[in-house]
Amino acid sequence: MNNTVLITGATSGIGYEFVKLFSSKGYNLVLVARNQKKLEDIKQSYQDINVTIISKDLSQIGAAKEVYEIVEKASIRIDILINNAGFGLFGEFIELDIQKQSQMIQLNIRALTELTHYFLPSLIENKGKILNVASTAAFQPGPLMAIYFATKAYVLSFSEALAEELSDRSVTVTVLCPGPTKTNFGQAANIEGSKLFSRPVDASWVAKKGYNALMSGKTVVITGGLNKVGALASSFLPRKLVAKMTKFILSK
Ligand SMILES: NC(=O)c1ccc[n+]([C@@H]2O[C@H](COP(=O)([O-])OP(=O)(O)OC[C@H]3O[C@@H](n4cnc5c(N)ncnc54)[C@H](OP(=O)(O)O)[C@@H]3O)[C@@H](O)[C@H]2O)c1
Repeated sequence: MNNTVLITGATSGIGYEFVKLFSSKGYNLVLVARNQKKLEDIKQSYQDINVTIISKDLSQIGAAKEVYEIVEKASIRIDILINNAGFGLFGEFIELDIQKQSQMIQLNIRALTELTHYFLPSLIENKGKILNVASTAAFQPGPLMAIYFATKAYVLSFSEALAEELSDRSVTVTVLCPGPTKTNFGQAANIEGSKLFSRPVDASWVAKKGYNALMSGKTVVITGGLNKVGALASSFLPRKLVAKMTKFILSK
């Protein structure tokens, strides 16, 4: 029987690259995103594996539980959970729409946490794996993207803690921290044109790094040498200085 991977945010960018990677290895897929048409198109393109699509807005309260219940009802055994769906918003906290910022917290934090909670018992039973997609934004405060950076700091901290809690259980937790990547993220977040987004890398390369780390059971993977240096520097430079530098890099 083929193993099954559940991927959130599967319709574009890094998530879609995971779809391509896992399908090429013969995994069955459970794909979650909002865009039903895109999900159907992806399902259509894979005839030799089982593809289940779930159109769901994960920023809605209760959505993670609904996804879990759909999977349970269909008796699908999940071996790998990839919490990838997420978005960012560029701008000053005071200027940005609070409903959109709350949706970001709901998606980037709450849905990821709840999906992990609901699927964890069966993932342990199945000797499974979890991959949470954070960001290099996780390592410092992010003036001009304050909430986004804070959500990714949560994802990193939560994932590292969970990996340790579960270290004697038969499940692994990996957290992927990419830097700027060519996807729909930049446009959706209105961050294109900033110094940070001057040289984004390919999403396929990022997904491959995540895949390799997940398969080897590594806890934290930061993509790219410069990003590793940046994350390390953020840990020993004064926080106030790091915040000032980050604001400069994020500005347009
Ligand atoms: N690109 C970067 O520079 C970068 C860097 C570091 C980390 N990341 C992280 O990488 C992850 C993937 O982002 P990406 O760069 O691949 O962006 P993307 O191309 O915009 O993809 C985002 C995916 O999430 C889905 N999604 C968005 N809102 C959703 C919602 N409310 N409910 C369910 N699904 C939703 C989208 O599909 P639908 O529109 O169909 O719902 C899409 O499939 C995110 O967590 C992001 O924070 C990105």
